[in-house]
Amino acid sequence: MYLNIFTNQSYKMATLIYNIKELLQIRTNGETKICGADMRYLPSINNAYLIIEEGLIADFGAMDAMPQSEFDTQIDASGKIVLPAWCDSHTHLVYAGNREGEFVDRINGLSYEDIAKKGGGILNSAKKLQDTSEDEIFEQSKMRVEEIMSLGTGAVEIKSGYGLNPEAELKMLRVIKRLKETYPIAIKATFLGAHAIPLKYKQNPDTYIDEIINVMLPKIAEENLANFIDVFCETGYFNPAQTERIILAGEKFGLKAKIHVNQFTSIGGVQIGVKHKALSVDHLEIMTDTDMASLKESDTMPVALPACSYFLSIPYTPARKLIDAGLPLALATDFNPGSTPSGNMNFVVSTACIKMKMTPEEAINAATLNAAFAMNLEKTHGSITIGKKANIILTKRIPSLNFIPYAFGSNLIDTVFINGKPIN
Ligand code: NIG
Ligand code: FE
Repeated sequence: MYLNIFTNQSYKMATLIYNIKELLQIRTNGETKICGADMRYLPSINNAYLIIEEGLIADFGAMDAMPQSEFDTQIDASGKIVLPAWCDSHTHLVYAGNREGEFVDRINGLSYEDIAKKGGGILNSAKKLQDTSEDEIFEQSKMRVEEIMSLGTGAVEIKSGYGLNPEAELKMLRVIKRLKETYPIAIKATFLGAHAIPLKYKQNPDTYIDEIINVMLPKIAEENLANFIDVFCETGYFNPAQTERIILAGEKFGLKAKIHVNQFTSIGGVQIGVKHKALSVDHLEIMTDTDMASLKESDTMPVALPACSYFLSIPYTPARKLIDAGLPLALATDFNPGSTPSGNMNFVVSTACIKMKMTPEEAINAATLNAAFAMNLEKTHGSITIGKKANIILTKRIPSLNFIPYAFGSNLIDTVFINGKPIN
């Protein structure tokens, strides 16, 4: 029981973390996203305390103002940093099997596009997923969720898109639903039926789009299986007109768009996203001045996926250009078997600093509050704010916040707390 001497309010099941070397990303003004030059600033308190009560952040401040009281649990964080758990707004972590054969093909000279043209890539994962039972996919996906939680992720978006037929897309979304029911982290589901054109529709892709709109979407809405809708808007996949048709159909069922655009080519996907008030546009490795100008007119969150660029050796999203133009930016993993077989947000934050020249403060803003915004979780996640979920990372003893992206290969996490409880 904790009695706050300032408000005279008593709390149940309270945890105190004290002597925190630095408490990062404290937000007290209801900020929902951080844009442009403001991203360089990461509000923090040196020598701080944090109080967690019933799974939520109840109080925080400087040590010299710490209320004297009894707590159920007290943690000495001397020399350690506390920050909000990572928010990963773009993953495909429900899948069956892996694609390490294609990885070796790429080492031997084939490109991601070459492999896709041969019937590999997304279609390869779709075949595996269609042939795997829901229970088996659930078991494989559980391991990935547990791994990302241990790496400090406290909220995650997961897409369908390896089913590519009504039965298998629903199977994927039901697995996501079971993950939601099983784990304490926040999970948002995105319907990505338009991830690739199945072989049998190669000659008439619009017939597949009819199936997405007329068969899959109503069923998904009826079972309440998705929060968002996504399309892979890319040369050889879905063009802007097809993308627009699909996101308009999703809108009718209340699904906001989060779309894959500009991964390999700039073909107008950004403009379609902006026109339809997409929540986010993701990838953005190839950005024209027109794409930049369109984003400036919008509330859509740009999302960069540097681990994908790293793994495929494709260009990195021009983060400096976006941020210097005053735009916000979020970071996510893209965890999937083809282009990013890693859900490690610590690696993403490091890579954003090392390869995209984001400052550590910018990268942490991008991987917490801005990433929460990119999945509609900005009111409950992504910052140290009273009343938000107590999803936090307690680091090992480290010299400064800069050490987090600097020591890119080390595990710097001491404890991850989800809803105020330490996880192992
Ligand atoms: O975001 N680009 C489209 N989708 C995934 C890759 C999917 C795959 O290769 O399996 C991505 O990179
Ligand atoms: Fe993706």
